[in-house]
Amino acid sequence: MPRIAIIGGTGLSQVQDMKIVKRRVVSTPWGEPSAPVITGSLNGREAVFLPRHGTGHTIPPHEVNYRANLWALRELEVDFVVAVNAVGGITEPYPPGRIAVPHQVIDYTWGRPHTFFEGRASAVTHVDFTRPYDDGLRERLVTAGKAAGIDVYDGGVYGATQGPRLETAAEIDRMARDGCDMVGMTGMPEAALARELNMAYASCAISVNWAAGRGDGGDIHGEIAETLDAGMAQVRRLVGSLLSLA
Ligand code: HPA
Repeated sequence: MPRIAIIGGTGLSQVQDMKIVKRRVVSTPWGEPSAPVITGSLNGREAVFLPRHGTGHTIPPHEVNYRANLWALRELEVDFVVAVNAVGGITEPYPPGRIAVPHQVIDYTWGRPHTFFEGRASAVTHVDFTRPYDDGLRERLVTAGKAAGIDVYDGGVYGATQGPRLETAAEIDRMARDGCDMVGMTGMPEAALARELNMAYASCAISVNWAAGRGDGGDIHGEIAETLDAGMAQVRRLVGSLLSLA
């Protein structure tokens, strides 16, 4: 049975229904992960949980130690990584409240340590990232959504921005021209690092607002506050369904 880890994002610092079995402080050659890694059981299945922004949600997207987080999960022999990412919807199929399982990513982040292959210790390595997300895990997420009666949208291009500020309307227009469907700050380099460690990785992206200049141009923070709790409740149900099926 594959070992599944959930990387929780904004609004998902804990999985309420998870029975915690162990909390492990893992040291890695890349520094400290965002928090102790939790092993627990949910729907009768063992799962691993790591809150990306730390236990108290204090680590901003550009300061997350993505390398340490992924390395820690590898050390715990995780096979599947399900990343939970709050996003802003750019194109029409991604309104606030909708969960999507993106199939592609465009990386606009900069200055984040983004690879395990640096220095001169190993041969030059270029991982294949043509399809950044694992197809099998994406399919499992979509099936788990259907089984739980959750409206999960299959596909979309995730644009990863640096943050922590939100984007300008012109930046979002440019991202739309590039082909982005949604925008978030945590999708990269996480997905690439998982690939470098050979772990199957997929994102469960929950739209919590219309991106800057989209929708009715209202108050983005108000929209996020309104959508986040209900959205994350859906994400928790989806994760529960995935664990009972996988
Ligand atoms: N932009 C970037 N990241 C986000 C957004 C957004 O509009 N909403 C949630 N995460």
